[in-house]
Amino acid sequence: MVAVVREQTNASTPALPPERTPRHVAIIMDGNGRWAKQRGLPRTEGHRNGVENLRRILQAAVECGVEILTIYAFSTENWNRPKYEVEMLMRLLELFLERELDELHKNGVQIRHIGELDGVPTRLQKRIVKGLELTKDNSRLILNVAFNYGGRDEIVRAVRRIVEEGIPAEDITEDLINHYLYTCGLPDPDLIIRTSGELRVSNFLIWQGSYSEYYTTPTYWPDFDETEFRKALAEYAHRKRRFGQIDEQVEDPDE
Ligand code: FPP
Repeated sequence: MVAVVREQTNASTPALPPERTPRHVAIIMDGNGRWAKQRGLPRTEGHRNGVENLRRILQAAVECGVEILTIYAFSTENWNRPKYEVEMLMRLLELFLERELDELHKNGVQIRHIGELDGVPTRLQKRIVKGLELTKDNSRLILNVAFNYGGRDEIVRAVRRIVEEGIPAEDITEDLINHYLYTCGLPDPDLIIRTSGELRVSNFLIWQGSYSEYYTTPTYWPDFDETEFRKALAEYAHRKRRFGQIDEQVEDPDE
């Protein structure tokens, strides 16, 4: 990743005040296949360009003061894609880690993984573990990679562990469940972006995203550049988050 952290603001778009900047942004990087099709290219070219774009968005996230970036790189459902495409997606993550790890580390990026390593090729597993280990003490940006991840699967695994550990029903709280999720210790995403115009959650952070703000754009992921990223953040800055409550105290008519 070339000079990921330049910590300068894009002159055309002023920085948002910290209290209006999402701490945790999660992205469903959708539309690689359609991007490629539009250009008469194989789908895999779309994924390759998607990885290139990730470098740009990482840089933009740091510049904008985002603390955690979670990306949906491979879902538990993606195993059902054609074998060559699955292999390509595995290979792309491997290459990404091979080429970018040192630069990410130098730039203070902490890599985390959410999902299961079971079923992932051994060579890639080793690369992931190496990346996690090398960057574990970094704190400039957390890059949380959802790879072989499914939200329902995550909840099922959490429930199984809770039962296996014999935790009594009355001790089961939201905090306890949070503790058993892959995202334990991380704040919930403030903003979830989905590219390519689809209006679906697709099994992504279904527990953690309960009160996230959603943003969608018709732009395909490989074209979702820094300007688009800043646009999403600017829209978030205007949203009023109420977390199921109302804006101001209203008088109780019965009192
Ligand atoms: C959705 O596009 C994208 C994916 C299933 C994978 C996302 C992966 C990348 C951007 C590259 C991998 C990232 C890393 C870090 C290795 P789609 O194929 O569903 O597009 P379509 O809906 O247009 O067919």
